Amino acid sequence: MRATRKPDPVESRIVAGGVSHLRRWYARHARDLPWRRTRDPYAIWVSEIMLQQTRVATVIPYWERWMKTWPTVRRLAEASLDDVLKLWEGLGYYRRARRLHQAARIIADQYGGHCPRQHADWLALPGIGPYIAGAIASIAFNLPAPVLDGNVARVLCRWFDIGQNPMRGPARKRLWSLASLLVQEAASQGRRHRRSCGDFNQALMELGAVICTPKNPQCARCPIDRACRAHERGRGHLLPRMPARQRLQTRRIACFILQYRGRFLVERAPARSWNAGLWGFPQIDIPGQTASPAALARRALGFHPGCGFELSRTIRHSITRFDLRLAVYAGRSTRRPPPPRPNQRWATRAQIDRLALSAAHRKIARAL
Ligand code: ADE
Repeated sequence: MRATRKPDPVESRIVAGGVSHLRRWYARHARDLPWRRTRDPYAIWVSEIMLQQTRVATVIPYWERWMKTWPTVRRLAEASLDDVLKLWEGLGYYRRARRLHQAARIIADQYGGHCPRQHADWLALPGIGPYIAGAIASIAFNLPAPVLDGNVARVLCRWFDIGQNPMRGPARKRLWSLASLLVQEAASQGRRHRRSCGDFNQALMELGAVICTPKNPQCARCPIDRACRAHERGRGHLLPRMPARQRLQTRRIACFILQYRGRFLVERAPARSWNAGLWGFPQIDIPGQTASPAALARRALGFHPGCGFELSRTIRHSITRFDLRLAVYAGRSTRRPPPPRPNQRWATRAQIDRLALSAAHRKIARAL
């Protein structure tokens, strides 16, 4: 766990008062979320992974389905990656699911299926950084481990009036150090309380999610408004100071729906690619220079399709850094196509329904 800088006397006062108010507020106002009814480290780990990049309301049904399907680490370790990706379909950022599955297999092999207790052991697992390790250690084991995600960083930048970019260098270090100081204060205030560390960290997350929001923070309803330095100086709404967002890069893609005798050609994205393990229709980036659909189709499919293709629709879909523009071409072959590549297969509509598809390709599949 991270070292904590000694606070100055003003900071100590702000910390002690704020922690106490925030704990009391959380005890009364915490949302009743399903993963808050358990201290099972596995269940908490799954929730935290799903909650990275995804909103609470979206996560709830996924988490409930996941826990019903794989109630223990061992059960998850035994599952196939295909089933894991299928259940994850629609949550996006599929690397989270692949790493969760990989880490479950490590826990099954190296820890006999029992989740480790130590923060450092969690950190050594795939897909687990300091935030997730801190969340599991504090919520499941009540250890005074800090957490710092986007919500918490925003709360702390305002609480302690930190004007530098919270994602970088000294400001980031300072935020981790404050997060550590705060959870230790919560631990000492709640010595007799079995959940003081986890509850406090979740109180920080909760405050960031429902009151100390990026736009229009509800300072009048904030339990720590009197401890908040930025609020006192009237500049809470100006923080945190984030770097300008990078513009999305446009990617033009041609996607081919080849039908033969009621089946469609689908293929699985190779390991280490963006959508590794997910299925979809053959596709190819459209190069800068003009290329005919027929030539693109041959390259995307890997063989001569024996039919023409017509543009059937265009789809726009944004992911992380890309604004994807998919031109979807459809063709129906009457001649027996050559054997597909090893990562390709012919699938009926019903079979496609059961495969894990990326969101853009699910849109295409729904319209088949
Ligand atoms: N976001 C990240 N972790 C969370 C949690 N435990 N509860 C609510 N929102 C969260």
